[in-house]
Amino acid sequence: MSSKVSVCDAVRDEVKSFSPYTAGKSIDEVKEAYGLNSIIKLASNENPLGTSPRVQDTIKLHAASVFRYAQVGTPHLIDAIAHYFHIPNDSIVTGNGSDEVIDMLIRVKATSGKNNIVAFAPCFSMYKVLSQLNGIEFRQTPLNDDFSFDWDGLLKLVDEQTSIVFITTPDNPSGYAPAVEEIIALHSKLPASCLLVVDEAYMDFAENAENHSMLPRLAQYENVCVLRTFSKTFGLAGLRLGFGAMHPELAEYLRRIRPPFNVNILAEQAGIAVLSDTPFIEETLRVTREGRAYLTQELEALDFTVYPSHANFIMVEAPEDGNYLNEELLKRGLIIRPLVKGYNLPKHLRITIGTAHENKVLISALKEILNAE
Ligand SMILES: Cc1ncc(COP(=O)(O)O)c(C=O)c1O
Repeated sequence: MSSKVSVCDAVRDEVKSFSPYTAGKSIDEVKEAYGLNSIIKLASNENPLGTSPRVQDTIKLHAASVFRYAQVGTPHLIDAIAHYFHIPNDSIVTGNGSDEVIDMLIRVKATSGKNNIVAFAPCFSMYKVLSQLNGIEFRQTPLNDDFSFDWDGLLKLVDEQTSIVFITTPDNPSGYAPAVEEIIALHSKLPASCLLVVDEAYMDFAENAENHSMLPRLAQYENVCVLRTFSKTFGLAGLRLGFGAMHPELAEYLRRIRPPFNVNILAEQAGIAVLSDTPFIEETLRVTREGRAYLTQELEALDFTVYPSHANFIMVEAPEDGNYLNEELLKRGLIIRPLVKGYNLPKHLRITIGTAHENKVLISALKEILNAE
């Protein structure tokens, strides 16, 4: 049988028109491009303290077991998560990063050609990337000028075919976190069939998280899912681990469709270990909160517009061309995140809070670049 259509012509349309996630620059890329030996990376909202010592010991201990498949469903990790976050075991679905849970939710809830998904613009780009890959219409409404949430604008996009509304709190890239009452009010106006996904990747860093988080209130709402990641506070970005907490019946559907060994053995053991490493978690939160206050103060003194942040990063508008500043910082071995790609914010920059030393080096470099010494 012969056909004139080539194997690549016959690739799915969603894949042909797909724009992939654009990650920030890696340490090796910058070392190579600028001929540098040492780099400070404040671009991807990773943990400033590195990997927890307890996790490092655990990984060594379990290195010899990686020839085994993990236990399906990672039950010991689920126990540890349930205990740490005070949520029921059967509400938890773990994933290879919370990115994978986002994908599972879309595949379980949204039908191509029928449903739509709603979010703010800008938002964490994986909501759009994964909706498009799954062939789902993705609708966005702008944030308010101060990056707070325009709930009415969001609700205008919602109809009976909306299967998921995504919100992020504290938000990426601004660090804004609404009062939890506002999220509850949004929920009360959504159709019962629509799932409200509240992505709390950065909630641990919030001041008074109890006034912002939906996680402790989850049991009261059938159609709410809260996402958490182990990539930030828990310092496991490279191992890939996250989870969604949701109604047990919905959780069961996600378990049905997920790949059987989606969380690997080392990620499972590392997740269990870090949840018990209280000194590491407490130190992470202390360093981040102190660094956030320091950077806010110093950047404001340098005439940056700093958006108040509840996260482990701050978004700023630079007094000079952001591209120029970014390029000058790269030459000095400092990687921050310009927000052109993925977020469409050409004037804004996102800076991850580093250690006290890293934050100081950043401020000195900016003073030098802006001649503000
Ligand atoms: C808002 C938000 N959600 C989810 C993620 C992804 O987390 P994970 O590393 O668990 O896939 C990120 C990562 O930067 C994020 O910013």
